[in-house]
This record gives sequence, structure tokens and C-alpha cells, in this order.
Amino acid sequence: MTSASAHVGQTLPEVATVVRSVIASRLPRACGGGRILVERDRGAFLVKCSLDGVPLLGGGDTAVEFRMDPADAEVWICDLRVAPSRRGRGIGRRLAQVVETAAYRLGARSVRLLPLHGTQAFWRALGYEPVDSPAHAHGKRVEPDTENGRNGG
Ligand SMILES: CC(C)(COP(=O)(O)OP(=O)(O)OC[C@H]1O[C@@H](n2cnc3c(N)ncnc32)[C@H](O)[C@@H]1OP(=O)(O)O)[C@@H](O)C(=O)NCCC(=O)NCCS
Repeated sequence: MTSASAHVGQTLPEVATVVRSVIASRLPRACGGGRILVERDRGAFLVKCSLDGVPLLGGGDTAVEFRMDPADAEVWICDLRVAPSRRGRGIGRRLAQVVETAAYRLGARSVRLLPLHGTQAFWRALGYEPVDSPAHAHGKRVEPDTENGRNGG
């Protein structure tokens, strides 16, 4: 049986508010130059966050893009990248945590992605493991945000 997803019925502004609040708590210093776009795309919410204030997912920026289908209790990370000059400082991990925390608060219970070639070790370090389907996908169950004692609400 498919469990009901709490983000059914949420609006674009509501999703954007949750994502902004999660970024403010997880990546406060990124907020100055960042851009967050939330769009409807074939019934799903498509969230695009750029943390460098440069064109979203253009070359060399630090950004994450994820998709939530209200019919599904699952979030897909479409893209996640850290500018080459900023890698190795935990920013990629924090970007993934932004998605996981926002996903949980919006009612999703797992995050999946197709790792780009050579990034499996990065995703494994973050707790993502191969899942049965689709082929080559990795996934992780999301839990309440326990940072600072919060419970994700
Ligand atoms: C993969 C990528 C996002 C990592 O970003 P980052 O900010 O350097 O990663 P972090 O510093 O947060 O690293 C988090 C953990 O992953 C590990 N890790 C990061 N990159 C790794 C790599 N290439 N291989 C193995 N482990 C890696 C780190 O050692 C760290 O583990 P630890 O906390 O246990 O020490 C970045 O290299 C990147 O943008 N690559 C190009 C785009 C890309 O391939 N994106 C993936 C889309 S699926």
C-alpha cells in the first residue's frame, strides 16, 4: 500500500518557504548570494537552489536541483554540484542534507538519485546505497532532522 504523502496539496510558496528555512539553518552563509526557484513541472515540484548567485546549474557553480512528485513519498536529486574551488569542505554533504531535511519536512520519506560516474563513494559516505530500481539508482531513507534537537517539524 502506498502511504499518503504529506506534501500533497502544498503550494509553490509553501514549498519555497520550507526550502528557504532549511537552507538558512543548514547553510546560513550561503543565503547571501543564493537563488531558490520552485516550479511546477508536470505535476511535480522542481526545486533549484544555487548558492553562488550565478546562473543555476551553469558551469562552475554550487547548486542542487531536486524534484518532488506529490503522488509519491520520494524525492529525486536531479543534480548536485560544488564549484571545484570549494570542494572538500563538506558543502556537498550539506547540500544533500538540505534536500533530505526539506524532503522530510514536506512529507517525503526517501531520497533517490542516479550517481554520476565516479561519485558513488561520495554518496556512500552520505549513507546512500544501491536500490533495486531503477537500475543504478542509490537511495536513502530520510529521518527527522535531529540537528540542534529539532524533530523536523
Ligand atoms: C561530488 C561532489 C558534489 C562532492 O562535493 P564536496 O563538497 O567536495 O563533498 P564533501 O566535502 O561534502 O564530502 C562529503 C564526503 O564525501 C567524500 N567525498 C567527496 N568527494 C568524493 C569523491 N570524489 N570520492 C570519494 N569520496 C568523496 C568526502 O571524503 C566526505 O566524506 P567524510 O565526510 O566521511 O570525510 C563534488 O565533487 C562535485 O560537485 N562533483 C562534480 C559534480 C558531480 O559529480 N555531482 C554529483 C551528481 S550525482
